[in-house]
Amino acid sequence: MSREPPARRGRPGDPDHDALERGHVFVTPEGAFAEAAAVWLARLLLDLCGQTERRISVALAGGSTPRGVYEALASLRDVHWDRVEIFFGDERAVPAEHVDSNYRMARESLLDRVPILSDQVHAMNGTATSLARAAQDYAALLPRSLDLLLLGIGADGHTASLFPGAETLREQQLRVVPATAPDPPRNRLTVTPAVVRHARRIVVMASGRAKASSVARALAGRWDPAGCPAQLARRGSWILDPAAASELDPALTSRLSPTQDGAA
Ligand code: 6PG
Repeated sequence: MSREPPARRGRPGDPDHDALERGHVFVTPEGAFAEAAAVWLARLLLDLCGQTERRISVALAGGSTPRGVYEALASLRDVHWDRVEIFFGDERAVPAEHVDSNYRMARESLLDRVPILSDQVHAMNGTATSLARAAQDYAALLPRSLDLLLLGIGADGHTASLFPGAETLREQQLRVVPATAPDPPRNRLTVTPAVVRHARRIVVMASGRAKASSVARALAGRWDPAGCPAQLARRGSWILDPAAASELDPALTSRLSPTQDGAA
């Protein structure tokens, strides 16, 4: 199966889409998405830790897809969690224990299950009186370049809480901003395109037939990040189950097995 990245699309010279060449698309075996993604992520975390003496900065993806992956990741022994600083790519404006909180999902599925100290975990403040102030405070915490940014993708092509046509996509200065989602919970905080652009590694996880069309547009559609914000992550490594990859040219994908130990 070819490991060639998706064919280049859109305007050459645009920093976001030129990096496409580094993108890899992995398809997990049917029914083993979480396990295969977790093994691949564990190996990537090990590789990233091996490249530096300092702690690595990892921003977690929200939503529901990561839950199973995080649970599987928590069960793997060979991740040096003492070397990891945890951030978030976005958060809903709800209390940390709210059922819709990305922090709560990450805490339940991963952070409460691995040896990581609370001072290594930096949650966004979803209950701040001023979300603009909370965004500013969080941006001050974020490293200049995240070592690893985990993202998901919506059926509409959004990623983090960067939604199609949103003003946030045009933000050039700020790195974290308040955002409004089309569906509840509407009020959010999100990293901006600059944070996506400067992340050293990006991993996008998607599963299910409902994502197939937005995944294909993100990876192989005409360059249009305003219409499909997940294109900002085009250069990343994409881990898809067969259903989410079903509208992609198979020649653009590599097979990922649950025992795969070579993170690209
Ligand atoms: C969020 C996420 C968002 C998510 C996609 C996919 O806070 O909801 O940041 O970008 O990754 O909406 O969500 P599912 O994994 O639930 O399909």
